[in-house]
Amino acid sequence: MASLPVMTVLILSGLLSLTGLRPSRASTPPENSIGHLTRELLASARDPTFSDWLKRTRRSIHERPELAFQELNTSQLIRRELAILGLEHSWPVARTGVVASLGTGLKPFFAFRAEMDALPLQELVDWEHKSKHDGKMHACGHDAHVAMLLGAAKLLQERKHELKGTVKFVFQPAEEGQAGAYHVLQEGVLEGVSAMFTLHVDAKLPTGAIASRPGPLLAASARFMARIQGKGDGDAILAASFVIQGLQLLVSREADPLEGRVVSVTFVKAVGDSVDLGGTLRSMTTEGLFYLSERIKEIIELQPVVHGCTAEIDFMYKDRIPYPTTVNDEQMYMLGKMVGESMLGEANVHLSSMCMAADDFGFYSQKMATADFSIGIRNETLGSFHPLHSPHFFLDEQVLPLGAALQAAIAIVHLNDQVSVLQS
Ligand SMILES: *[C@@H]1O[C@H](CO)[C@@H](O)[C@H](O)[C@H]1NC(C)=O
Ligand SMILES: *[C@@H]1O[C@H](CO)[C@@H](O)[C@H](O)[C@H]1NC(C)=O
Ligand SMILES: [Zn+2]
Ligand SMILES: [Zn+2]
Repeated sequence: MASLPVMTVLILSGLLSLTGLRPSRASTPPENSIGHLTRELLASARDPTFSDWLKRTRRSIHERPELAFQELNTSQLIRRELAILGLEHSWPVARTGVVASLGTGLKPFFAFRAEMDALPLQELVDWEHKSKHDGKMHACGHDAHVAMLLGAAKLLQERKHELKGTVKFVFQPAEEGQAGAYHVLQEGVLEGVSAMFTLHVDAKLPTGAIASRPGPLLAASARFMARIQGKGDGDAILAASFVIQGLQLLVSREADPLEGRVVSVTFVKAVGDSVDLGGTLRSMTTEGLFYLSERIKEIIELQPVVHGCTAEIDFMYKDRIPYPTTVNDEQMYMLGKMVGESMLGEANVHLSSMCMAADDFGFYSQKMATADFSIGIRNETLGSFHPLHSPHFFLDEQVLPLGAALQAAIAIVHLNDQVSVLQS
């Protein structure tokens, strides 16, 4: 690895003393110091030995996808790599998760999150490292997220004496629908963590680009299931059709168009004299989600009465904890943007728009200053342009060293900046 310890210490102490002179937390270290740091980290991550290891790690996870809360082999692979790196870690966290630590052991604590779970999908891409488990696939890039975070840990381990605080690496179970983040937080392993960062691959962005926005980024989401019970004569089917129309009007008539809301009915099934239906609801604010769920409950419970039917609704809060909105802290967003511009060039850091997708990263953003950035994987030649959750999803592995280096740089810059604030 092309790391130059002596030079790096000089650069960083320069960076520290200069940021120490600035009054606010928003202070940005001088461009040339960050420039050195990001160039060195990217060169280390792109070193063939390093990037081959990243690729092997990602492929090995890709071949053996595991669903939410079943990520035992995945976490075993993670623990094995952490042991080789000599990083302390806690396991199991929230059943299958792993939380590793590196640095002084003292505050400030800064965390990264990588999800470990795959999706219940049959991979339709024919390639050498295709999923070996029928009906399971890493179609949301979580295999790459794990590899990139292990990569960041390895880069930071080589520079651990430069860390002005502690970095926590959260390998989280069950992002897909089962609120793994909520369960990780319940275990208290992130007590004292003041800020957190995550990357998510995105096939809409070309490889080499990243994007995010300050403030609300991803929607709050919940699910519902309902049963409409009729008395024969197909009255339940008629009632269900009015319910579905009512649910659709809810969004088109009542919602503030500037505050995105979605209600979609994803299945309808007639069983004897009753109809089961279910769907999802989303809103760009967590309050909006609760308002929507109240209105959905009213429509589902009251509309069928008109048709002489009864109905019950279940939001399955216990198994399907609603996800809050993912909101990016302004300073954390600026940190990602600044480090990204330095590493990838200004033209490759984009401002994204709000998106109705949801992620359990929102649970962390309720507790600490967070930022969630998209990182591009699109390459037309390779065919890596299918959306997340598609059985054709394919990843441009050139993203792996970028994601590893970017996260390592963000940790170093953030901790230096925090320490300069504490000292000023
Ligand atoms: C986990 O590892 C064991 C032992 O190597 C193997 O038999 C099993 O098939 C693996 N399970 C998954 C889901 O990869
Ligand atoms: C796409 O990937 C191919 C193969 O890795 C590479 O040669 C090419 O430069 C990439 N294209 C872009 C636009 O990055
Ligand atoms: Zn997903
Ligand atoms: Zn995902």
